[in-house]
Amino acid sequence: MTNPTDTTSPTDTTSRTDATDTANPIDTANPKDTTELPAPVAFPQDRSCPFHPPTGYDPLRASRPLARVTLYDGGTAWLVTGRDLARALLADPRLSSDRTRPGYPTTSPRFTALRDRRASLLNVDDPEHHGQRRMLVPDFTLKRATALCPAIQRIVDERIDAMLAQGPPAELVSAFALPVPSTVICELLGVPYADHEFFEEQSRRMLRGRDPREVRGARDRLDAYLGALIDRKLREPRGDGVLDTLVHERVATGAVDRAGAVSLATLLLVAGHETTANMISLGTYTLLRHPEQLAELRADPSLLPAAVDELLRVLSIADGLLRQATEDIEVAGTTIRAGEGVVFATSVINRDTDAYPTPDVLDWHRPVRHHVAFGFGIHQCLGQNLARAEMEIALRTLFDRLPGLRLAVPADEIPCKPGDTIQGMLELPVTW
Ligand code: HEM
Repeated sequence: MTNPTDTTSPTDTTSRTDATDTANPIDTANPKDTTELPAPVAFPQDRSCPFHPPTGYDPLRASRPLARVTLYDGGTAWLVTGRDLARALLADPRLSSDRTRPGYPTTSPRFTALRDRRASLLNVDDPEHHGQRRMLVPDFTLKRATALCPAIQRIVDERIDAMLAQGPPAELVSAFALPVPSTVICELLGVPYADHEFFEEQSRRMLRGRDPREVRGARDRLDAYLGALIDRKLREPRGDGVLDTLVHERVATGAVDRAGAVSLATLLLVAGHETTANMISLGTYTLLRHPEQLAELRADPSLLPAAVDELLRVLSIADGLLRQATEDIEVAGTTIRAGEGVVFATSVINRDTDAYPTPDVLDWHRPVRHHVAFGFGIHQCLGQNLARAEMEIALRTLFDRLPGLRLAVPADEIPCKPGDTIQGMLELPVTW
């Protein structure tokens, strides 16, 4: 079955969604006086059910397309809650992603700790962003992800062989959901998987650490590790990883400096394994909690691309994309002032009742999706084709080879990640 979101953008071949299909609601949306907005709600909050937005967001879900939130540091920000407005604002150049700007919104001490430096690509605005992105796009096209499918299948099969040899039971995050994308991104980038314990631990501290010094220390250790790898690649014959191309075609020629290459490598390595790992663990948990839908999927695996897309919408694991207005923006009858923070709660946006009738239902037969689980606009996820391929192969093979797969402990005893980071399961004990 073709994926209904597969409308590749002409300018960026990584994109499987299309900026032109949404009428621009800026300035034309229903007038909304800010005095009508409900009292600000704290953002972020922990989920009480791993596959639903926190119940504390209910007032936000009722306030479309904009609401106000209070942040952990006492600051306030706009919260975008409407799907069409989210797509328009994420594509609006008057919103900056540069987290070093004074007054940039922050949703956790961890994020505040990392504000001392911009990450390449993710925190860079156009025109600089365009140059960095253009350099990487050829390695993340749909064609490239399709070519990687046999390697992904091999990696998935090896992990399941190991689980079958050792279990049941198994802890699915450490035995499967994390090692699969971690191995895939290592092979793609040209990073030795033998070092996985080190970089997974540093990523964990960067994404979930509580102490700012711990968070910055982890980032610096990861930067030092990837800097040494880049230096080594510069001295050695060229391999075929993405980092080898970066080093030999850009760093060696002076087009990209070493610090820029290190920052890109860190972003690709962290973004490339943590996110997909969470989708695999949380996606498995969600399907096990929806036995009718899982039975349908098992009977007709051609539904898988649509099922993965619907899981992305429902689970919205990257929940809380941050931006700052650089100019006044008239929107939905109110004004976002220059300097104000804007937060995109993807879990709320992807359940906009105007866009998705029955938004809380897991239903992959919906006609049109256009969710923002991968963001939208210039920063829309570079790795989305790869992530979709990994999720499809991982879920299909897991349920195929372990037909009796089930939770090994009561569902409500399974720990999930706190609200201020990428959503997923901390552990997933399973048996079969
Ligand atoms: C299911 C898994 C994934 C999810 C849900 C996800 C989600 C996202 C989201 C929401 C953004 C936009 C952030 C923003 O606008 O502030 C993003 C950007 C990005 N993602 Fe992913 N991601 C996933 C997998 C991956 C993978 C496998 C890679 C591979 C390297 C990757 C690399 C990136 C990069 C480099 C960016 C920054 C793009 C830019 O700024 O131009 N992601 N991702």
